Amino acid sequence: MCGIVGAIADRDVVPVLIDGLKRLEYRGYDSAGIAVIGDGEVRRVRRTGRVAEMEAAARADNVQATLGIGHTRWATHGGVTEANAHPHASHGVALVHNGIIENHEQQRERLQQLGYAFESQTDTEVIAHLIHHYLKDGLDLLAALQRAVKELHGAYALAVVSRKEPHRMVVARMGCPLLVGLGEGENFVASDVSAIVQATRRVIFLEEGDTAEITRAGVRVFGADDAPVERDEHLSDVSLASLELGPYRHFMQKEIHEQPRAIGDTLEAIIDANAFEPALFGRDGAQVLDGVEGVQILACGTSFYAGSVARYWIEAISGLPCSVEIASEYRYRQAVANPKQLVVTISQSGETLDTMEALKYAKSLGHDRTLSICNVPESAIPRASRLVFYTRAGAEIGVASTKAFTTQLVGLFALAATLAKLHGRLDAEREAAYIEDLRHLPGSVQHALNLEPQIALWAERFAPKHHALFLGRGVHYPIALEGALKLKEISYIHAEAYPAGELKHGPLALVDADMPVVVIAPKDGLLEKVKSNMQEVRARGGELFVFTDADSNFEASEGVHVIRTPRHVGVLSPIVHTIPVQLLAYHTALSRGTDVDKPRNLAKAVTVE
Ligand code: F6R
Repeated sequence: MCGIVGAIADRDVVPVLIDGLKRLEYRGYDSAGIAVIGDGEVRRVRRTGRVAEMEAAARADNVQATLGIGHTRWATHGGVTEANAHPHASHGVALVHNGIIENHEQQRERLQQLGYAFESQTDTEVIAHLIHHYLKDGLDLLAALQRAVKELHGAYALAVVSRKEPHRMVVARMGCPLLVGLGEGENFVASDVSAIVQATRRVIFLEEGDTAEITRAGVRVFGADDAPVERDEHLSDVSLASLELGPYRHFMQKEIHEQPRAIGDTLEAIIDANAFEPALFGRDGAQVLDGVEGVQILACGTSFYAGSVARYWIEAISGLPCSVEIASEYRYRQAVANPKQLVVTISQSGETLDTMEALKYAKSLGHDRTLSICNVPESAIPRASRLVFYTRAGAEIGVASTKAFTTQLVGLFALAATLAKLHGRLDAEREAAYIEDLRHLPGSVQHALNLEPQIALWAERFAPKHHALFLGRGVHYPIALEGALKLKEISYIHAEAYPAGELKHGPLALVDADMPVVVIAPKDGLLEKVKSNMQEVRARGGELFVFTDADSNFEASEGVHVIRTPRHVGVLSPIVHTIPVQLLAYHTALSRGTDVDKPRNLAKAVTVE
């Protein structure tokens, strides 16, 4: 939810910190701050609002240094104020923190008794005082950090500097991602590689319980027992271009338009294999998937809707029972475990706390067959899973998920087909047909993208509305849900989705001339049923905005507007029908003038409950 960056170099690191924070801003954008060490002092600049405001303040103060840390915040403990913004400080120690310290109240009481005064309402400030407390006892910065984190319950990624030790920063990780970037005579730390990619792509992913010391000359990593450990170096494939807007107005628009490429890249392994094989999901694919008797999907938000589409596919194609559950619900209920079930977590970020905790809970119940569908390599959820399918969407910066969703669907479709094959329900002919359908998918998605001008015209009519209904049936019902979520989160129009057949059981009461009703109506076996549901809306004066396939016989009429997506693409139709609802939300938000990429109150990776 928050972003961390730190740098030590023999040049001014302030531009590195600010550039990094701008790239991390999508993770949280309530306030931002930096702390640098220079002339034996800690200098802090903190501002509520966007990084640009903090940057202006740092410029005005002519802040420069060769060692510093920075943070973008998404408020959890304590409101959006400058006092609550990171870095937090205690007597010459400054630190930035992602995560939540669960025992902060006890620690605060204890530290107050020790004479520490608190300036903020955050859980983070206790860590600064705790480290200072151990420095006072004679420990050095690294040892004080190692000692302090043993007293913290909860999740943290920390980067700490001290005016007394201007030659190094120290960092710690538990439950939140943190990586070290390796440069030439300069080194970095970040919660996300995008923050430092302008300086280096050589990274070390810290593991749970690790601490590290970062100097200009090198990096030393220590395991949870404080003994030195070796961690592998990786070369990140995140490119600078993928983090820049290019010709687009917003990252969301860019990411919507990247979908043919993202889907193509995600498909590559399947097309190369020309088969649905367990190996697509990892080395242990055959071992884990063999004998699977059912599937339990766990996820949040848009990823949950991807799972909801997958349920239709998995049951229809493989014949295996499949349940989908919101991770934050599953983790707190007494679930019945079946070790023959495959537990599938879906997460763009790979960091979502509720999904991670649901996975841990499933494992604690005896579920050993685990698969993660994820977009961020080496993130926590895939690392905790036996199998992984990495979507290759590339960095998703817009807070509203778009290309992650459609690429998740590709991975989930491959899973449905693979399970079907393992259960003798996919003959060679059908397998070849599915692969052919996948091969054509990027082209069909591109055709749907070409509808943008027509959809933008519809968006102008949506912009003044206060409410909207989305309807779909069968495998397209989750697409209606996704359309409603996209619209509400970026345009702030209240939108709800229903299975079209459910309308008459209550929501029809809402329909009047002011309520636009969006219908996903592809040319599938349910089209006639959907048409009857549309009549119910029309009869109450509701205005219909229908997305249907080019080859369906559905015609526009009074109060019924129609946009035709490409020819019906069969089983992959939900992927193609996602594009128009994304574009509708985007253009409606644009007309309303909202902050499309950073909608109010939200953040990208939700690492808190
Ligand atoms: C909506 C959206 C969120 C995420 C949800 C899960 O546009 O982006 O609903 O889908 O927070 O995030 P991940 O997929 O990272 O676990």
